[in-house]
Amino acid sequence: MFGGIHRMAKYLITGIAGFIGSSLARALVERGEEVRGVDNYLTGKPGNLAGLNGLIDFREADLRDAAAIRTACEGVDYILHMGALPSVPLSVKNPEPSHRCNVDGTFHVLEGARAAGVRRIIYAASSSAYGDQPVLPSKESMRPMPISPYAVQKLAGEYYMSSYWQVYGLETVSLRYFNVFGPRQGVDSPYSGVLAKFIQQMLEGTPPTIFGTGEQGRDFTYIDNIVSANLLACMAPAEKVAGKVFNTACGEQNTLNEMYRLLAKLIGFDRPPLYGPPRTGDILNSQADISAAAEAFGYRPLIGVKEGLQRTVEWYRETLKLPAVSR
Ligand code: UD1
Repeated sequence: MFGGIHRMAKYLITGIAGFIGSSLARALVERGEEVRGVDNYLTGKPGNLAGLNGLIDFREADLRDAAAIRTACEGVDYILHMGALPSVPLSVKNPEPSHRCNVDGTFHVLEGARAAGVRRIIYAASSSAYGDQPVLPSKESMRPMPISPYAVQKLAGEYYMSSYWQVYGLETVSLRYFNVFGPRQGVDSPYSGVLAKFIQQMLEGTPPTIFGTGEQGRDFTYIDNIVSANLLACMAPAEKVAGKVFNTACGEQNTLNEMYRLLAKLIGFDRPPLYGPPRTGDILNSQADISAAAEAFGYRPLIGVKEGLQRTVEWYRETLKLPAVSR
């Protein structure tokens, strides 16, 4: 494919044992790239790296440990910085650890990259930075209005990324992910992503709880789209992407009530949801304009929400060893 002239690049994935990090690791290993990864197993799981043993250079390290991160950056071409404490409600309940991981951790990655002369960093930014915009879909040119500490932390990381491009010439690209879902997303914590939780609960026969009216909307994005965006952003010309921020999503919106109905149908679950109080720090609606990423690096969503849900349900059913999907 590369005609023998392509030198395999070395990638460092932070948060490699997480849902997104481990998906990126698989995609890169399949392409024959050299992958190093760090994770502290705070939210990542060794099981997410199943089958990658011996194929990646894994190092147990914490983003809050500047020296360990600096060492991990040595000899690396690209960093995919996915490591974070990814939860909005966790940051509301206890902002300190998420600040340390998300802000200090990102700073350590940037400093490590600068010292090691890394070529480019792709940063997992968050659509939560938009907050509640008066107009949707959200465009990158809109003023961020973060609500939760998590959203502020993720936005601070973006500003740091952009600064390091402007003052040190380190190529950085921030991808604002919108509600990513898919196989391997954690289900075992109260802070897990909503779809993973709902799928597990429905498969087990427990009615999920919707926080608020269920009319809040999200631009739910299947994991393969995010993997593809990362790989494209690595290869795009610097003048198109360096120092910039891009929405990475499907460009659509579904309410939680709609998602509940879709999942219930896929799974054959016939009980209504429970409703609880709205969650503090939540944004109401989110939907991306994805034209900037399309223009800059040819991003387009490969897998739509329904197809993504089907694949995800099948994966959890396999993994949780429950009966076949009813359609
Ligand atoms: C999610 C990501 C965050 C990312 C952001 C980008 C997770 C855990 N969080 O935040 O990292 O930066 O998208 O847009 O993946 N809900 C329920 N019942 C539940 C759980 C949640 O109704 O049992 C509701 C929440 O109140 C919220 C919605 O579902 O309104 C989505 O929640 P969640 O999956 O936690 O994602 P975000 O907070 O949007």
